[in-house]
Amino acid sequence: MDLKKLAGEQAANMVESGMKVGLGTGSTAYWAVMRLGERMREGLDIVGVPTSEATKQLAIKLGIPLAELSTLEPLDLTIDGADEINPDLNLIKGGGGALFREKMVAAASRKLIVVADESKVVERLGAFTVPVEVVPYGWESTAKRVAAAGCVPKLRLVKAAAGNADTGAGAPGAESAFVTDNGNYILDCDFGLIEDPERLEAQINAILGVVETGLFIGMAELAVIAAQSGVRTLTR
Ligand code: A5P
Repeated sequence: MDLKKLAGEQAANMVESGMKVGLGTGSTAYWAVMRLGERMREGLDIVGVPTSEATKQLAIKLGIPLAELSTLEPLDLTIDGADEINPDLNLIKGGGGALFREKMVAAASRKLIVVADESKVVERLGAFTVPVEVVPYGWESTAKRVAAAGCVPKLRLVKAAAGNADTGAGAPGAESAFVTDNGNYILDCDFGLIEDPERLEAQINAILGVVETGLFIGMAELAVIAAQSGVRTLTR
């Protein structure tokens, strides 16, 4: 049984015609968007706001009408995945690097529904490193300031698919900085288990050069969690 598919589809079944819906990013939200596309072919009528370029392309392929966040907000609900979910429904997100747009869209939504398999549910956040989006200019200086907040930040890298035969730069397998949809970098920050996620979020967000953190505090209202034994929902 594909648990991500189960959770994503179940949340998509909660969407009603006429709703303005935030479309999340990642391998679980993917199934929610796929199910919304299927339901639209059966007559569901919604308008979506994608949280990433990848989700935008998927929604276009599925024929889901899209609009700019600013013209559509407030949204009725957003369905999105998470990397960790604690009992207060505080989250770590951004494993896929879409955290900034995900937070913008979630903040403009009346309700954030998180979809995940049971492996994402934790007692305390922090086993998954916290993604922090930073401006490329001076990112090393920003990383030092983030480190001073009590972590070991690592610049997220990606392997190049194709290279430049002349210079060797970007040769297949060579690594370069991962660039977000907003043209920024991601620092993956290991804080260990986090005692006070709310305080940490405020602390990192106050650092010059930081765009946003993957800590989503007090935003999710409902979590749809799929396990082999079935689907359960968690509320705050
Ligand atoms: C994207 O940047 C993330 O916030 C994802 O929502 C999160 O990483 C969960 O992804 P999966 O559903 O693929 O595990």
